[in-house]
Amino acid sequence: MWPSLWKRHKSKGFAEVDRKRIPCHIAIIMDGNGRWAHRRGLPRSLGHKAGVEALRVIVRACSQLGVKYLTVYAFSTENWRRPKEEVGVLMNLLTEYLRKELEELHGNAVVVKALGRIEELPQEAQTELFKAFERTKENPGLVLNLALNYGGRAELVEVVRKASQDIAKGVLEPEKLDEHSLSQYLYTAGMPDPDLIIRTSGEMRLSNFLLWQSAYSEIVVVPEYWPDFDEKALLQAIQTYQQRERRFGGLSKG
Ligand code: FPP
Repeated sequence: MWPSLWKRHKSKGFAEVDRKRIPCHIAIIMDGNGRWAHRRGLPRSLGHKAGVEALRVIVRACSQLGVKYLTVYAFSTENWRRPKEEVGVLMNLLTEYLRKELEELHGNAVVVKALGRIEELPQEAQTELFKAFERTKENPGLVLNLALNYGGRAELVEVVRKASQDIAKGVLEPEKLDEHSLSQYLYTAGMPDPDLIIRTSGEMRLSNFLLWQSAYSEIVVVPEYWPDFDEKALLQAIQTYQQRERRFGGLSKG
């Protein structure tokens, strides 16, 4: 089992996080691997490799904190535009991550899921993904959503397509369509929307991430490049979230 993060950070007095108000769903735009590498005179591939290490640390931390869902933007529908070699590196890292981490994730009760058009990923990556889904599907712990070949607009197109097909089949009545019934066609069907979206490396954009689901998410942008985002930075982002007042379009209580 993973050791207690809580004890370590409390004893070092790192962060005053309210344990009773941990966000249920955290989503992360893991940005800045390339710049992290560039700053060190390293190839971009080593930035992505360091990014996988950061992912390991953050998955473990979220599981220990009692976060129920963690969604990470690992590969967007737009990332195919990168040079072929870089796409290859990212796909190999994904395959390797799943191969190396599966037993540890499973041992710590994590459920592995994916959001996106995974049928367009290389066969090897798909094989490891399906192995991970199958192995971890009954686990009671953190749900780790890997957003892979994911695009928010592409997701909404799929929602419309599937809903139209159900209307044509007579399974769905157009008059009964509402936000709830439509959200059942999202990749995140049955999951709560993210409470907190963290973006690393200082960019203030959603970049086509969770367009529907982010309607009322609190967004925290941190300056660190993704490979430098660690447990302490996560606790600080959660603390920032806890200081926000969420009104969901209503009025302030104060
Ligand atoms: C953004 O950095 C990051 C990505 C496009 C990919 C995120 C991938 C990882 C963290 C590692 C892979 C993990 C798995 C499980 C596949 P960037 O390259 O856009 O950085 P830059 O904006 O500084 O160039």
